[in-house]
Amino acid sequence: MLKLPGLIDPHVHVREPGATHKEDWDTVTQAALAGGVTTLLAMPNTKPPIFDEATLTLALDAAKTKARCDYAQFVGAGPDNADIVASLAPQAAGLKMYLDSTFGELRLDDMTLWTPHFQAFPKSAPMVMHSESRTMAAAILFSAVYDHPVHIAHVSLKEEILLIKAAKEKGIKVTCEVCPHHLFLSKDDIPAISHGHPGRGEVRPRLATQADVDSLWTNLEVVDCFATDHAPHTLEEKDSDNPPPGFPGLETMLPLLLKAVDDGRLTLDDVVQRLHTNPKRIFNLPEQPDTWVEVDESAMYEIKASEQFTRCGWTPFEGWKGRGKVRKVVLRGKTAFEDGKILVEKGYGRNVRG
Ligand code: NCD
Ligand code: ZN
Repeated sequence: MLKLPGLIDPHVHVREPGATHKEDWDTVTQAALAGGVTTLLAMPNTKPPIFDEATLTLALDAAKTKARCDYAQFVGAGPDNADIVASLAPQAAGLKMYLDSTFGELRLDDMTLWTPHFQAFPKSAPMVMHSESRTMAAAILFSAVYDHPVHIAHVSLKEEILLIKAAKEKGIKVTCEVCPHHLFLSKDDIPAISHGHPGRGEVRPRLATQADVDSLWTNLEVVDCFATDHAPHTLEEKDSDNPPPGFPGLETMLPLLLKAVDDGRLTLDDVVQRLHTNPKRIFNLPEQPDTWVEVDESAMYEIKASEQFTRCGWTPFEGWKGRGKVRKVVLRGKTAFEDGKILVEKGYGRNVRG
């Protein structure tokens, strides 16, 4: 039996408020616990988006009554809310800035809209960028110019990881995360994921080339965190004429990474650093006392959507071999999950910024 610290997922789309048919605070935190995640940071691109005090309260009220694991909620950067979100920083996971195409309404196309956020948001509070390719280069320049640390979400391209590496060497305060789907899938896998429904392969950032995937593995020392970007949409939505981008990921991250450990592609310590030590530091998260995850290391099994807790009902990794079954999760002294069953009530989860 392998004992891990409670895992931290800094990038989760909870879907409540506004789209609870995809997921809500109850189902997402069940999926988290089943995946060994004891703290999740929730993204603000809900309906309505979380971008001021009233909408933050809306999300936190739902979380308070329904969450079964610990959490914090990001606020989103909008065109005219820099002072408002700065004042909410102590209650939020951090500020999320959508600088590239995404699902939802929060998006800052114009660079003049970035500046007030870089100036107003407290320097000690995390700023997370959805920024791809050249937009990412611009975000890193803002970080250097305004001397504000930034965390780059879901890095997927060789040009991105190489620039982050060079920026770190220059002393620019940039950190980053990589998602399991960008480590284990390339665009060549889209036909197999799609089963004739191209929408199933849609995710932002898009699945990249094998050369991009390889560059993430060869530059693993540049990757600070793993994050799921758990973005549940129902199969009906994925198979529709206008498929929303996004993959669920909370319940498949650990078995895929432990399989990679088994294959000698990374070490267990690499995993613990990126799913616990580094996100805890980058996002200023408190210690969770008496919290750990027990994994049956030797268990090999097939990943099946039908065994997942997420409400969305599918996974791009259907039929893949996973290694390591989460047997038990103890959260703040209480057994929260054991042998496939959730054992803590709705509302047990705590707001780590509360
Ligand atoms: C995310 C979603 O569905 O909310 N989708 C995705 O493909 N990652 C949006 C996002 O993170 O950009
Ligand atoms: Zn996301």
